[in-house]
Amino acid sequence: MILYRVPFLATFLVIVKATATNTNDADVTRASSAEYVQSSPAWLANVKVPTNVVTQLPFDDEIKAGPLPKEPFKLDLNSYPKPNKQPPVDHPEVQAVLKHLDFSIIPKSKPRIVKDWVFDMKDYNRTDPDCWWSSSLCKKPKVSYLPEDISICPNKGTWGLNYDDGPYKMWWPTSEKQKEYDQPRFYNYLVEKGKQKATLFFVGSNVINFPEAAQRSLSDGHTICSHTWSHPQMTTLTNEEVVAQLYWTHKAIKETMGITPKCWRPPYGDVDDRVRAIAYQMGMRTILWDQDSNDWNLITGRLKTEVVDNFFKGWVDNRVSGNDTDHGHITLQHENSNMTIQMSEKWLPILQKTFKVMPIHQCINDPHPYWEESWTYPTLDVPEPPRQRSSAGNLGANTSMASSSYYSNLAEAILNLSLLGFAVAATLI
Ligand SMILES: *[C@@H]1O[C@H](CO)[C@@H](O)[C@H](O)[C@H]1NC(C)=O
Ligand SMILES: *[C@@H]1O[C@H](CO)[C@@H](O)[C@H](O)[C@H]1NC(C)=O
Ligand SMILES: *[C@@H]1O[C@H](CO)[C@@H](O)[C@H](O)[C@H]1NC(C)=O
Ligand SMILES: *[C@@H]1O[C@H](CO)[C@@H](O)[C@H](O)[C@H]1NC(C)=O
Ligand SMILES: *[C@@H]1O[C@H](CO)[C@@H](O)[C@H](O)[C@H]1NC(C)=O
Ligand SMILES: [Zn+2]
Repeated sequence: MILYRVPFLATFLVIVKATATNTNDADVTRASSAEYVQSSPAWLANVKVPTNVVTQLPFDDEIKAGPLPKEPFKLDLNSYPKPNKQPPVDHPEVQAVLKHLDFSIIPKSKPRIVKDWVFDMKDYNRTDPDCWWSSSLCKKPKVSYLPEDISICPNKGTWGLNYDDGPYKMWWPTSEKQKEYDQPRFYNYLVEKGKQKATLFFVGSNVINFPEAAQRSLSDGHTICSHTWSHPQMTTLTNEEVVAQLYWTHKAIKETMGITPKCWRPPYGDVDDRVRAIAYQMGMRTILWDQDSNDWNLITGRLKTEVVDNFFKGWVDNRVSGNDTDHGHITLQHENSNMTIQMSEKWLPILQKTFKVMPIHQCINDPHPYWEESWTYPTLDVPEPPRQRSSAGNLGANTSMASSSYYSNLAEAILNLSLLGFAVAATLI
């Protein structure tokens, strides 16, 4: 029974309930039932999960810096759409997902028009009926069943560390030097800085381009969220295109890491209630930020290093001087270039001295960022989640565990888990 996994597919059912009584969302047609629930993505049930990755949060003594494995992770790239492009909506797998969604409760607003990256807002109602972040920084949906976006850490002095756009690898390097910042450089750096954990918003195209780094990030204890397939301005897409973006990213994440995130971040923060509602039905909650480091403007060349340094300096000074006492922060940062990675490495040690630095779910006290509830992460309330050294644990970190196992017999283990009320799948699903 080498490398068997026993996924706990328990309690995959009702998580969020909300009643629909708000009058603001007039263009949302309600299902006749006044109740709407978010459920686990059934449309991912047939995705094969890997056998070479951790299946629970690793213990700190299992986390080590070092190179990626030499053996590449085998992924059938032909089963995925073209990277960095809008995936077609007529693909049978996308069509199958569409059948699972209830479009009657998704706002009917039209895709936004954008020209040269600038939104056409002249016809948009200034009262912001769609809670369109790009127009008003709105984070509190007008659609009543949608939860508010996560954008701060509630407790003062906490810092929800996170990085967008990974796993980073230069797509078309023209020199060896350009590969210097490819992962696992920054993941190793985080390990060396006290096994620092972060939330990583992954682009699906990057996950299939660099699955070994994605797997490594998971076994370093980071929390993985979705950041779409090709990083578009999501409100410009049709419903079907939004679904395709989110579906392929989720499939890539599940196939390489065996997990199903409940969290996503819209590229450029561009989200409105229509897009939120689709992501929500696909099992995700929207995460934004309250502080923009503007590190992405280093890449565009619009900001100099000193300007970005000054943002960080301001936040640190504010905290040190005792002015920053309302709540903790979620800051927009990126692992997508040599410049943003350098900036992150420069400031992390200072942030660690000034704030309690942790992943976003930890600071919001949510131990379950994935639908697979066997993954329990630390929270502020429970910093040491109960985990077992062996059993259905970290097969990736120490393969000898499978044979030395607490579960000497897979059948017995499955029976026991069933008795505990878990729905157990012994096959790899
Ligand atoms: C804008 O929205 C408000 C409130 O939702 C509504 O009362 C008003 O009629 C709208 N204006 C236009 C021009 O559609
Ligand atoms: C802290 O806040 C006070 C009052 O708003 C202000 O005068 C002071 O300059 C602030 N200090 C820093 C370091 O920002
Ligand atoms: C980052 O990479 C760009 C493009 O390869 C290069 O021009 C620049 O000098 C690098 N900057 C740093 C700080 O390494
Ligand atoms: C793997 O686990 C076994 C049993 O728990 C232990 O004896 C062994 O030292 C571990 N090996 C490594 C490399 O961690
Ligand atoms: C299964 O449960 C029984 C009773 O609780 C226990 O004695 C046994 O050790 C368990 N077996 C495994 C493999 O966990
Ligand atoms: Zn991004």
